[in-house]
Amino acid sequence: IKQDGNDIAHWTSDYLIKKINDFRPTTEKPFVLGLPTGSSPIATYNELVRRNKSGDISFRHVITFNMDEYIGIPENHPESYHFFMYENLFRHIDIPIENINILNSNTDDLEKECIEYEKKIMKYGGIELFLGGIGMDGHIAFNEPGSSLTSRTRIKTLCYDTIQANSRFFENDASQVPTEVLTVGVGTIMDAREVLIVVSGYHKARALREVLEGSVNHMWPASILQMHPKCVLICDEPATMEL
Ligand code: GLP
Repeated sequence: IKQDGNDIAHWTSDYLIKKINDFRPTTEKPFVLGLPTGSSPIATYNELVRRNKSGDISFRHVITFNMDEYIGIPENHPESYHFFMYENLFRHIDIPIENINILNSNTDDLEKECIEYEKKIMKYGGIELFLGGIGMDGHIAFNEPGSSLTSRTRIKTLCYDTIQANSRFFENDASQVPTEVLTVGVGTIMDAREVLIVVSGYHKARALREVLEGSVNHMWPASILQMHPKCVLICDEPATMEL
C-alpha cells in the first residue's frame, strides 16, 4: 500500500526495471511484458519513459503484448488502445516497432486474430510479467463480470458499467463507446509467470475489497488472481478504504 499515485508509479517502475535488467534475454527467450491501458498505468509509463531516457533501462530486448483493443474504431482514433500506447509509451522509448504486439481489431477475421495472438505469446515462451489494472466492476483487461475464469483471447461485449466508466474518454457520451472489444482471456493472464496489478483511487475501493477479500468468483473476474502463484497488487490508501 502506497500513499498516492506518484508513489505507486515510482515503486512499479523500479520493480519493472529491476525485473527487466535482471533478466538474461536470448533470441528464443526475450523478456515478454504484458501491458494495460487505462488511467492507472499512465504515471508508471511516464516514469518508464524518464528512466529510459536517463539510461536506467532499455526496451530493445523486450517484447510487449497489450491486453485489449476496441472493435469498431481505427488504430489512429485518439481513444484506440494502439493510439494510447504509442502516445503514452512506445513512441518515447527505444523499443523496436517489431517487438510491439497489440490485437488488431480492424482485420476481417477477428477469431483468427485471437488464435494467432495466443500462438505468438506461446512462441516467445509465454508472458514473463503482466502489468494490469482492474475496473470498478472487477474486470481485468476487458474480461467483464461473468467471464470464464479459464478464458483465452477472444471477442467480448462490454457491460453497461464499463461503457459508462469509459465514456469519460469519449466526450462523456456513452453512445460513442465501442460495445465490442478484443481481449486476452483470464486464463491468458493467469498463465503469466508474474502479475502486477495497480489500483488507485477510492472509486476502486469496492472492487479491491471484492477482488482481494471476496470469494474467487467469475462475477469479479480479477478475484482469480488470489489463485495466482505470484501476483503483486500495489494500491494507494484511498483504494483500501473498504478493506
Ligand atoms: C479499462 C481497460 C482495463 C483497465 C480498466 C481500468 O476498460 N480495458 O485494462 O484496467 O478499464 O481503467 P482505469 O485504470 O482507467 O481505471
